[in-house]
Amino acid sequence: MATMKGWLFQASSGPMEKNLTQPSSGIPRPKIKGSEILVENFSTALNAIDYKVLELGFITNLVFKSVTPGLDVCGRVVEVGSKVTNYHVDDIVYGALPPAPTNGALAQFVPIPAASVALVPKGLPSDDMVSVGVVGLTVYAALKPYVKPGSKVFINGGSGGTGVMAIQVAKILGADVTTSSSTANLELCKSLGADTTLDYTSAPIAQQLKDSGAIFDLVVDNVGTPANLYRASSTFLQPQGKYVQIGLAVSFAGFRQFITNKITSLLAWGKREWIFVDASANQHEAYDQLAAWMREGKIRAVIDSKFEFSEVPKAYERLKTGRAQGRVVVHVQEY
Ligand SMILES: NC(=O)c1ccc[n+]([C@@H]2O[C@H](COP(=O)([O-])OP(=O)(O)OC[C@H]3O[C@@H](n4cnc5c(N)ncnc54)[C@H](OP(=O)(O)O)[C@@H]3O)[C@@H](O)[C@H]2O)c1
Repeated sequence: MATMKGWLFQASSGPMEKNLTQPSSGIPRPKIKGSEILVENFSTALNAIDYKVLELGFITNLVFKSVTPGLDVCGRVVEVGSKVTNYHVDDIVYGALPPAPTNGALAQFVPIPAASVALVPKGLPSDDMVSVGVVGLTVYAALKPYVKPGSKVFINGGSGGTGVMAIQVAKILGADVTTSSSTANLELCKSLGADTTLDYTSAPIAQQLKDSGAIFDLVVDNVGTPANLYRASSTFLQPQGKYVQIGLAVSFAGFRQFITNKITSLLAWGKREWIFVDASANQHEAYDQLAAWMREGKIRAVIDSKFEFSEVPKAYERLKTGRAQGRVVVHVQEY
């Protein structure tokens, strides 16, 4: 059996990064389906969802007995499925796997649907492209359908992985952007193009939004904190405006927040609609557009930190501080 280097999560309890091992004999090299390509991975970037689904106690033990985590991929195509016509061996691609994969991106070779990648523009570094990945896809789905030139957008949480991408994409689409962060990250948000920044540590964010008198066309919530922000939005969101949720805890509290927001939205009969982001459609088009913006210099990668492949548990520890400025990137192998 062909093997490769890779990390393995084996269901247990406690923090996900304590249950990760890199077997010295390697792990099985995955096979691809007809609609997939096999990518020799150069870099990956970590996402909160990687550990959130692997820290659910008995549910994790039931569903995820032994998996390689990780979603974001950037590398060279080494094998093409029988149904794939638009990619060839040696193409350099980037993209992200659907959530909760069995054969994830913390590995040398990654099977990925051809519909979930796009070509990397010549000369762009893999660490930069992989930092766009799933967060770029998600904020694109949250913004593109709703933003017109001149729209007023509030982005809750502008400095994390999703936030740094959301500010930049909203500005490209022509929005006037207000965003929140702690004091230390206000400058970063401004440098990415935010027109107005609010320090969430200085006063409750709902109060600051109300006091500002600004009325937004769209709210993109990357954080899910404070939990009542959607229910407080009648003072700062247009009646025909939308509230798109990206960040939410994977816990009972997060589930309750999801249900409460959904019911509140349904009872409002179309006013200030609450939407949980869905980035499953047209992924290739989104990745292609994001790559073009990278090539044109309209989006820049914001990388909090870079780790070597042997340092994956340390990289998760960094992500789990909840203080990352942009993305946490892991080198898998040389470009
Ligand atoms: N639904 C999807 O498809 C999808 C896709 C990607 C991500 N997500 C979710 O989106 C959420 C965010 O992901 P991420 O990658 O952006 O996480 P992250 O990179 O870990 O976010 C960290 C950032 O959050 C900021 N932050 C923390 N509390 C805040 C608050 N109360 N107000 C404003 N900013 C705050 C921190 O800034 P300060 O240090 O300034 O506080 C830090 O810069 C996660 O829940 C993740 O699971 C969902």
